[in-house]
Amino acid sequence: MRKVLKWLGVGLGAIVGLVVIAFLVLTVNSSRKANVAYAVEPASLTIPTDAASIAEGERLVAIRACMGCHGQDFSGGPFVEDAALGTIYAANLTGGENSPTRDYTPADWDRAIRHGVDREGKPLWIMPSTDYYRDTNHDLEKMIAYLESLPAVDQSELYPEPKAGPLGTMLVATGQMPFPAALIDHTTPPLEYIEPAVSAEYGGYLAMTCTGCHKPDFTGGPLPGAAPDAPPATNLTPAGHLANWTQDDFINTLRTGVTPEGKELDPQVMPWPIAERMTDDELAAIWPYLSSLPATPTAN
Ligand code: HEC
Ligand code: HEC
Repeated sequence: MRKVLKWLGVGLGAIVGLVVIAFLVLTVNSSRKANVAYAVEPASLTIPTDAASIAEGERLVAIRACMGCHGQDFSGGPFVEDAALGTIYAANLTGGENSPTRDYTPADWDRAIRHGVDREGKPLWIMPSTDYYRDTNHDLEKMIAYLESLPAVDQSELYPEPKAGPLGTMLVATGQMPFPAALIDHTTPPLEYIEPAVSAEYGGYLAMTCTGCHKPDFTGGPLPGAAPDAPPATNLTPAGHLANWTQDDFINTLRTGVTPEGKELDPQVMPWPIAERMTDDELAAIWPYLSSLPATPTAN
């Protein structure tokens, strides 16, 4: 009996040892990923100052759901606060005391929004630049004009640096919670200005905002880092429900949050209220784009 226990003890010791080693490897791997400096070439931007551009910038920011994470007043705050996942604050974008955007240049805004990196080129956590990296200069300039006009919200101290917990470390190291900056080809230029029209081309541009959750190929699937009981993003290609919808069904779903099948979409997981700030033509344009996608089943 003693001998068995002894061997069991040795076995357990070995397993614990392996787990510790694996964890150290993952920690080193994830901190290596967090400390890569991406070389990005910010565009040369001219920030407008007229009221119409600022008002349009407000709308462009709203339909990109920035407030979903940075707060209604853009002062940011805790985004993930979980012993296992870690602590990640969304930045205060108001330029108030201790806001990182306080002395931002247009190039800094470009780095953060379209490339997902800070001033040193280090990847920002969570910040979904994969959705924004092809935003036109035309739109980005107006968005920056608006962001720079925000009333300052002061903080008594800097928000804590992002810190991954054991699960967060593992998700980063194994590629399940990648830094958005790692998914972007930083040499791809932004799109050229696209004339707003009820066209699949313009719809595809607007639908970039949906790709962070619905995936770049719109097949959906589980959201990275979401609670286990959170619903997966639905497949928006003609392999999903949309095959049976009309354009009106689609517009109606985004205007009311209720699908033709009668499902009520929870605004906490599917930010359909952003459609309030989209014009009918914009919503109408997304439809021919989604309908033109190949019917592709969800991978997992
Ligand atoms: C899914 C949540 C989410 C959305 C949506 C989002 N952000 Fe962020 N953003 C974050 C988080 C979290 C950080 C902090 C990252 C870090 O500290 O590493 C961040 C950081 C930033 C920063 C960098 C500040 C700094 O530290 O220098 C800027 C600028 C920014 N966001 C602007 C925007 C704008 C503009 C939009 C909309 C176009 C937007 N964000 C949408 C989560 C989000
Ligand atoms: C923050 C993540 C997120 C973003 C951004 C997002 N969605 Fe969703 N969406 C979801 C999730 C999750 C569901 C599934 C909700 C459920 O099952 O309750 C969903 C469901 C839907 C549905 C219902 C589909 C069906 O088969 O019932 C439509 C339509 C939809 N989204 C369209 C869009 C469009 C268009 C955009 C971009 C303008 C978008 N979504 C952006 C997460 C998101």
